Amino acid sequence: MITPQTIEQIKNRIDIIDVVGEYVKLKKRGANYLGLCPFHNEKTPSFTVSPAKELYKCFGCGKSGNTITFLMEHDKMSYVEALKWLASRYNIEVEETESTPEQKQLQLAADSLYIINNFAQKFFDEKLFLSEEGQNIALSYLKERGFREDIIKKFQIGYNPSQRDELTTALLQNQFNKELLPKTGLVVVRNETELIDNYRGRIIFPIHNNTGKIIGFGARVIGKADKAPKYINTPENEIYIKSKVLYGSYFARLAIDKANECLLVEGYTDVVSLHQAGIENVVASGGTSLTTDQLRIIKKYSNNLTIIYDGDAAGIKAALRGLDMALEEGLNVKLVLIPDKEDPDSYVNKVGATAFQDFVAKNKKDFILFQLEVMLKDAGNDVTKKSEVVNQVADTLSKISKAEDFTKLQDYIKQCSSLLKIDEGGLTNLVNKLKRDKIAKDEKKLPFEDANYNLQQSQQPEGFSDDNFLLLNQDEAHEKNVLRVLLEYGLRSWDDQKTMAQYIFEELEQFRFDNPQLESLFNEYRNWYDQGLQPDAKSFLYHPDDAVRSLVVSITVFPHELSQKWDDRLEGMNIVNRDTSHQDVLISINIFKLRKIKKMFDENQRDMENASLEEQMKLIEVHKDLKKIERELSQQLGTVIIK
Ligand code: GTP
Ligand code: MN
Repeated sequence: MITPQTIEQIKNRIDIIDVVGEYVKLKKRGANYLGLCPFHNEKTPSFTVSPAKELYKCFGCGKSGNTITFLMEHDKMSYVEALKWLASRYNIEVEETESTPEQKQLQLAADSLYIINNFAQKFFDEKLFLSEEGQNIALSYLKERGFREDIIKKFQIGYNPSQRDELTTALLQNQFNKELLPKTGLVVVRNETELIDNYRGRIIFPIHNNTGKIIGFGARVIGKADKAPKYINTPENEIYIKSKVLYGSYFARLAIDKANECLLVEGYTDVVSLHQAGIENVVASGGTSLTTDQLRIIKKYSNNLTIIYDGDAAGIKAALRGLDMALEEGLNVKLVLIPDKEDPDSYVNKVGATAFQDFVAKNKKDFILFQLEVMLKDAGNDVTKKSEVVNQVADTLSKISKAEDFTKLQDYIKQCSSLLKIDEGGLTNLVNKLKRDKIAKDEKKLPFEDANYNLQQSQQPEGFSDDNFLLLNQDEAHEKNVLRVLLEYGLRSWDDQKTMAQYIFEELEQFRFDNPQLESLFNEYRNWYDQGLQPDAKSFLYHPDDAVRSLVVSITVFPHELSQKWDDRLEGMNIVNRDTSHQDVLISINIFKLRKIKKMFDENQRDMENASLEEQMKLIEVHKDLKKIERELSQQLGTVIIK
């Protein structure tokens, strides 16, 4: 973890205009800067950057955020990478904290897993090359399949003997933590207490992470797999996260860079054989369908992905499953199907490296067009089925959403409509409609857009005591508004006794937020405040949690409609040039409370309907109390306005 001090230093030095300006040509417009949005294709600028708020927002595509999120979105950096990038730009030395006990525990466990895996790999290596069983059964099998010794060594392939606990005994003799061993998958518990080898009599393929450390293993039976599963893999643990594993990535990285293309195959043996044939830009997904995480890793290496799968139905299906996700990640996807029940491993062994590469080059199909061909063949002359195909294709094409892919999309529309024998304009319209639907759906998910939407729907209030205004379905907007004033004014003084933040804490002591995200942001602010950290909106813009950062953006990005309305009212009263923060806080807090009281009121009313007489009496008391509070609050709101 980067220390709060370092983050503070970075935060103080950040100049959003300077950073964003490196990617976008910005022109000054009043207090803000304007440019062409880097996140979507546009001809007239709607990308706005506010240096004061240190935020950007595109009014075209809706993307918004701060300097950090900009780097994360635009350059695909992680949060920590973005901080480090900024630190180096501003010559700030990055201090990292001592981790928490939980983090330490996790790190400790991870370290131990690496150490155990490393030990096991050496053990497997020795058994393969030096033990009689290994040489006779395993090494001979590998050689029979055509694997050369230098390649076996490069991939650190090994052998786990067939005796029940040779590895386990070695591990225990070397004092490895007995509790931890089953986690590695190398060892399993038998009869509750006994530990035995899990990969007995299997060839072992170590799986490396990007830095070459061994995170797990794939263990293959020798010969045909009749009873047992062909492969056993490491279970999920602190270092083996299945959805992020790409077998061979450590050995492929440089070659992928060089070729600017990543080949994707299914199996371990495909990767090893292709390497042996000198084709090194290859990784394997491990048989299951591709995950978004895997695609993101690939995308970091290259934009060009070529999937090479078996030509059977299962292979085609598996390949197509990854398609939509790959398009959404902006990858150019090509497909090669290996014929005649072969897979890349067997095929390259059969025809040799040159013929294999020729075949790949000649049979590389565009993925989208391939999918279309498959579906069209399927549909035949059935009109209903064909119109389904049109919809399906449009849906697929609508996933091509990156601005820089615009020409590519137009090209596809041309080619697909010609294959479908339909009008190009019609397909364009359909794709655009699906895109719009998708954007609308995504925007609904954003809390900021949500609140804004509600607010625009609401009527200009006639007066603050107007029940209709207060009962409009805007609970969340009012909850957000409390956080807005807290983030904006919290550190200013309320009176000579306390700060605005302290005043707000006291006033809201009895109340809770309905929205759990807002509740936790409120509590976290309070926590930071109590620790003397002087939090403000900007501090939270650098919060390590994504969700919190976007929530804060949503709260502070633009002048809120609510406060705007109040400003208008205040302006009417000729006090606009004064500091209105007191009024803003008072109104926000009181409306918040009033709404909560109304809620309790309703609940109370509901309870009363089903209550016994005695309970009713009590509830009537509560009712009176609530009424009284409500009156006081309404009055206070009135006072504020008149003041
Ligand atoms: P060989 O048959 O030795 O050439 O292996 P392969 O890699 O060609 O195997 P296959 O094409 O059958 O499967 C492709 C990949 O799917 C394998 O490399 C494994 O990662 C995975 N896989 C295959 N069978 C199993 C299994 O029984 N269990 C698990 N967990 N994974 C499997
Ligand atoms: Mn195979």
